[in-house]
Amino acid sequence: MPNNLDNLIKRAAKALKRANYAIAFTGAGISVESGIPPFRGPTGLWSKYSPTILDLYHFRDFPEESWPTIKEIFYDYWETAKPNPAHYGLAELETNGIIKEIITQNIDNLHQKAGSKRVHEFHGTLKTLTCMDCYHNFKYDPILLKKLPASCPDCHGLLKPNFVFFSEAIPEQAKISSIEAIVKADLILVIGTLGEVMPACQLPYLAKKTNNATIIEINIEESNFTRKITDIFLKGKAGEILPEILHYF
Ligand code: APR
Repeated sequence: MPNNLDNLIKRAAKALKRANYAIAFTGAGISVESGIPPFRGPTGLWSKYSPTILDLYHFRDFPEESWPTIKEIFYDYWETAKPNPAHYGLAELETNGIIKEIITQNIDNLHQKAGSKRVHEFHGTLKTLTCMDCYHNFKYDPILLKKLPASCPDCHGLLKPNFVFFSEAIPEQAKISSIEAIVKADLILVIGTLGEVMPACQLPYLAKKTNNATIIEINIEESNFTRKITDIFLKGKAGEILPEILHYF
């Protein structure tokens, strides 16, 4: 580990210890080492697929187009993807009282699988689906996707995964609980996010503005946060850096 990075990790661990209310804010990058591609960048999903497939109105009008891609890019890894050392590291920091809550943009449930308890899914989840006709809710089961577009077992209406599509509102509960966490936080550990998508990407700025929160960022390259609000930039893979931070606890 380069000397400078080592010193920065030491500084980050010290800031985490000193913080009264540290929370984590995570994006797709934390799950890349679990085999789940990010959205942007050279290997990103948006370099292969058009984001239109995740637009709510397009989904409603052309479900036969959207559903096969949704199954391929999200549900096909759902059973196999496992948490990586970054997810486990955050769960351990929560257990020892360092990280109080996680706000995630991810829908892969890997924080929960790693043992994190207080997770706010700002962009919803793959775990459940809702019928767009009768609004009945279903826990994900591969049988629901046997025939696409997925249809409601009760009324045969169009089933929609409960993650946030483009042009769709953030789930009320996740929004409220995330903002409640942000206004309490005096440290945000920002992991694996480009900081491109509103309103999620405004959350670390809100913490900086409200409490002058310390922003520690883990990313393999600079993001939209780095030169604006990041205080400690730990350049590297989340699955490698988090275990290094844990050495200090
Ligand atoms: N460790 C840390 N960071 C990583 C790693 C890694 N191993 N691999 C990639 N990254 C970083 C990339 O450098 C990039 O900054 O993760 C970030 C991924 O950025 P995006 O793909 O844009 O993901 P995210 O910021 O979570 O996107 C936000 O956009 O399409 C919507 O709803 C979708 O929740 C998503 C939102």
